[in-house]
Amino acid sequence: MENSEQLKTVKFYSGDATPLEMHKVRVVQKLNLLPIEERRDCIYGAGFNTFLLMNKDVFLDMLTDSGTNAMSDNQVAAMSQADDSYAGSASYTRLEKAINEVFGQKYFLPVHQGRAAEHIIAKVFATPGKVVPMNYHFTTTKAHIEMAGGVVEEIYTDEALKIKSDFPFKGNMSIPKLLNVIEKWGAENVAYIRFEAGTNLIGGQPFSMANLREVSAIAKEHKIKVLMDTSLISENLYFIKIREEGYQDKSLKDIMHEMLSYTDFSYFSGRKVSSTRGGGICTNNLDIYMAMRDLVPLFEGFLTYGGMSVREIEAMAVGLYETLDFNVISHSPTFIKYLVDTLDKKGIPVITPAGGLGCHLDAKNFIDHVPQGQYPAGALAAALYVASGIRGMERGTISSVRDAEGNDILADVELLRLAFPRRVFTLSQVKYAEDRILWLYENRHLIGGLEWIEEPPVLRFFVGKLKPIGDWVEKLVAKFREDFGDSL
Ligand code: F0G
Repeated sequence: MENSEQLKTVKFYSGDATPLEMHKVRVVQKLNLLPIEERRDCIYGAGFNTFLLMNKDVFLDMLTDSGTNAMSDNQVAAMSQADDSYAGSASYTRLEKAINEVFGQKYFLPVHQGRAAEHIIAKVFATPGKVVPMNYHFTTTKAHIEMAGGVVEEIYTDEALKIKSDFPFKGNMSIPKLLNVIEKWGAENVAYIRFEAGTNLIGGQPFSMANLREVSAIAKEHKIKVLMDTSLISENLYFIKIREEGYQDKSLKDIMHEMLSYTDFSYFSGRKVSSTRGGGICTNNLDIYMAMRDLVPLFEGFLTYGGMSVREIEAMAVGLYETLDFNVISHSPTFIKYLVDTLDKKGIPVITPAGGLGCHLDAKNFIDHVPQGQYPAGALAAALYVASGIRGMERGTISSVRDAEGNDILADVELLRLAFPRRVFTLSQVKYAEDRILWLYENRHLIGGLEWIEEPPVLRFFVGKLKPIGDWVEKLVAKFREDFGDSL
């Protein structure tokens, strides 16, 4: 890792800000781009929900980076050395060592994926009468806390929800809001303060070390625990290194250790951070570890596998070390920045500054004629799939919930997230996305809203089904044929 520690980037002679792949492709998967008429049929079949599309019908799968990042050759090699045993596997010992070296945390509880960690943490700490302040919620996090009887309070800053901004750390917590929550609930009722690295739902935006340090000092003073969700820590780490004053010359390992030193415990989705399935909870605090330990064999599996296969455990250990490789963690942010900046220059509404998880189109402004109650982000996700075969993810009101009266709680932001799984897409594929988004923007007046056909009561965005209001999809298909002739 040592040779990648410096802030090294390649400048083009032409002066172009072109991102460059610092890896080569050695295993490939064939892609399929269906004609638009078939894409239209597929989106109807999927109830206008991109989660329900079959991958064979998708050209560029930008739904998520979860479990879809490319693995390195070293990860694949490690998988063949796995030590298969229920208890005391040597693979587990290697993972524990990686947790210790990469995060600087001693105790580890393995789980089958990130939300399983959320389940256990919420069950133990976010009990009825308790509050969890956080920079922003994540869907599964909030669902688990509420299911355990706790309450979520979001304490983001005024910058967080601005679509256009040049503020480098939109994932920061508001200190006055934090103090208010402590005052209102009493420090003893704050289950823990949750810092989400690379704040997912507001556009993959990082927090700064300075903000984390300040929050941690307040937490200590009030004897409140700090929890960090490190699922997206790689990109947060990258942004601290390149954006925060005083960190350019520090090694990624030192920055990572400093980040975790301000927490009492942390958890991660391996699907995101280490390009493998699985997850875990980490801490240096034996009491915190013991409070949760016995729930792992109950819900996940024995303490040395936690629902993961030993092959995944081996690949996870290697993947964690790779979060300290600048070339690995800079890939997605530089490609995302390329797309975000290109779209922004063309006046297409997109979250700025570019974050770490994906490019986020602002559906509220993209199709401002579609009211929020008709789910603009969901409609845009369906329209982009029809126009391009690209699958993004709705991150707006469909991903929200209803209130006690049954009314939609309108989301703060209506986003279509185009995730960039690490080291998966090439630049020409990103240029294709740019081209079809531009076409869609010029034809945005054709896009209409959606309404429910089938709405599940919990996490409805996963399997709920909708239909278009009116015949806008037909009009979009007709315009595509007019403009592109027989092109796919
Ligand atoms: N925390 C964050 C910040 C996440 O982004 C996710 C998952 C989880 C926790 C839950 O982890 O999926 O392993 O159970 N994010 C995925 C996404 C689903 O597409 O953004 P998990």
